[in-house]
Amino acid sequence: MDWKVERTNQKLSGRLNEIVEKRMKERNRGSMDFLSLILDTRESVTTAENAFTPDYISAVTYEHLLAGSATTAFTLSSIVYLVAGHPEVEKKLLAEIDGFGSAAQVIKEAMRYYTVSPLVARETTNEVEIGGYLLPKGTWVWLALGVLAKDPKNFPEPDKFRPERFDPHCEEMKRRHPYALIPFGIGPRACIGQKFSLQELKLSLIHLYRKYVFRHSPNMENPLELEYGIVLNFKHGVKLRVIKRTNSGMAEQTV
Ligand code: HEM
Repeated sequence: MDWKVERTNQKLSGRLNEIVEKRMKERNRGSMDFLSLILDTRESVTTAENAFTPDYISAVTYEHLLAGSATTAFTLSSIVYLVAGHPEVEKKLLAEIDGFGSAAQVIKEAMRYYTVSPLVARETTNEVEIGGYLLPKGTWVWLALGVLAKDPKNFPEPDKFRPERFDPHCEEMKRRHPYALIPFGIGPRACIGQKFSLQELKLSLIHLYRKYVFRHSPNMENPLELEYGIVLNFKHGVKLRVIKRTNSGMAEQTV
């Protein structure tokens, strides 16, 4: 299997290098996307030109694409899917979005419900004792973030989608261990894209729900089938009906 990974990797890196090279030559990018912003910074500051070498830019682009896109895209789909099946949550979310709120509780609960990176790994650099087990140097330790997120001790009725469990004033929240939900991992090697992706999710939700609401499409399988890989995915995607919002409530107009 390794040669296949290697080949795909080379193809992907090659394609990304081409894109970076092409975009570097463009004089007037006029776009606010990730690559344009890095390239514009590189050209506007001398120190950035030395630090942001073409290789470096290709590497961050690769990282951004692999670590950042599938994870955030899945999380956004899961939020819209879950909200579409919970009208009472949708009502609160719309009120929050119309009042410039942050949608933070809905995002957290969706990330708990469908943990996109269900496992993270570490290798012990020294002998260490964890939970009464003596682990020799070089042991792989797997932390099951997805299992942790469904622990009924921290999240009663874990299979219910209830964003209010993240209300800072509720008892459940006060009792909960601060590391009970760690969808971005933890410690010095935790996700570097955490703030970026949360911002991306919030902005996407604001843009979507200001104009539309969503309902499950009859063409979507029930129950939803999941696919477990490096990251979690919906096996057949999420199929939704898009309904335009109007001032007088919802127009049942599918777009
Ligand atoms: C919903 C979105 C995301 C989730 C749930 C997520 C989750 C994770 C998790 C669980 C890890 C492993 C942490 C650990 O081992 O403790 C990780 C690492 C990482 N993530 Fe994310 N991620 C997301 C978005 C992003 C984005 C947008 C970027 C880049 C722009 C990114 C870049 C990275 C990188 C570079 C690492 C490796 C960090 C290291 O090893 O030092 N991630 N992410």
